Amino acid sequence: MPSGNTVLNTPPPLSLYIHIPWCVRKCPYCDFNSHEASGGVPEAEYVAALVKDLEAALPLVWGRKVVSVFFGGGTPSLLSARAVDDILTSVRTLLPLEPLAEITLEANPGTVEADKFAGFRAAGVNRLSLGIQSFNPRHLKLLGRIHDDREAHRAVELAHRHFDNINLDLMYALPEQRMEEMLADLHTAIGFAPQHLSAYHLTLEPNTQFYLHPPSLPDDDAAAEMQLVVEAELAGAGYEHYETSAFAQKGRRCRHNLNYWLFGDYLGIGAGAHGKLSLQDRVIRQMRYKQPKAYLENILKGSPIQEEHQVAADDLAFEFMMNALRLTEGFPLALFQERTGLPLVSVLGALDVAERRGLIDRDLVQVRPTELGRRFLNELLQVFLPDEA
Ligand SMILES: C[S@@+](CC[C@H](N)C(=O)[O-])C[C@H]1O[C@@H](n2cnc3c(N)ncnc32)[C@H](O)[C@@H]1O
Ligand code: SF4
Repeated sequence: MPSGNTVLNTPPPLSLYIHIPWCVRKCPYCDFNSHEASGGVPEAEYVAALVKDLEAALPLVWGRKVVSVFFGGGTPSLLSARAVDDILTSVRTLLPLEPLAEITLEANPGTVEADKFAGFRAAGVNRLSLGIQSFNPRHLKLLGRIHDDREAHRAVELAHRHFDNINLDLMYALPEQRMEEMLADLHTAIGFAPQHLSAYHLTLEPNTQFYLHPPSLPDDDAAAEMQLVVEAELAGAGYEHYETSAFAQKGRRCRHNLNYWLFGDYLGIGAGAHGKLSLQDRVIRQMRYKQPKAYLENILKGSPIQEEHQVAADDLAFEFMMNALRLTEGFPLALFQERTGLPLVSVLGALDVAERRGLIDRDLVQVRPTELGRRFLNELLQVFLPDEA
């Protein structure tokens, strides 16, 4: 496998990720960097910190245009519209934001108000992502969500009123969920005709309440069957299945996430945010302090960055595959060299192995995971592990 420094002729597209680390209540299945906002969100202090964070990061991205912005969490919809407006005004002042940049904000249906949605839209947010999870009141309770089915419906209706590009997050293989209940959730979601749907298999993540006290979940066969049904139903409703969990109407793929999967660059600001940036002769990864308090303290001391390292060439090849092979259509062969700076020959052996095992298809232009490769993505990725080749 490859070694040595990388040289990138053209920098990849650049996205901006903004992390908002608070939620009303911590969901028992969630391992995201989110913390209960019991004493309220220190909004003004955090907005000022984000702007400082961005200013300090500018030398790493001088002159580069930003193609997408994503407010993720946590629960970004806890912020006031004014705060989102202040943040986006600073982003526009400090960075060249493409005129048609996709600007997404994640919202929790339990924190929805009509005025707020109108305010987010007026601030420049043009894509809203709603964490619906389920429309079934019993499952919403079992998931510890702060919203019920009525609020889920209302949130989607309001979202449609203010945005013409919305995503609904759904989860399946929920505690005690039967196939017909999953189908009812899916049909309700499809009935709202969102431009994008993300359907996640509920997983038990270490350091969560569900991991410590596992609920009764559908077994592996039942969950796999649900996944097939999700894919078939969404295909029938005209959604393109373009990534493991992502489905979109034509032309409505998430540009921000696509940039991650195509191994583009992203600057991540805010508590615990990760970033990946290509410099002329190396690719670096950064992580900001995770705890909001530590993040805010370190911003004042001068730098919010807890960890930064150069990605080793071996890891670059693996990380590229880990992202690009999630895409149903895979990636153009030429993109490997363009994004990693490594010669294609450095992965040809591994591509041969994957092809012989029936995990990918390829021609002179494109590499695509086969259906087998998509189902057994971990096995496919193992072929590209640095010590495997
Ligand atoms: C940061 S959250 C989205 C916004 C908001 N925090 C919310 O939950 O409403 C991103 C999405 O990841 C999914 N997710 C979170 N934990 C998960 C888990 N353990 N298994 C599968 N999907 C999960 C949920 O669908 C969630 O909406
Ligand atoms: S609201 Fe979203 S980010 Fe917050 S704890 Fe629940 S799933 Fe996690």
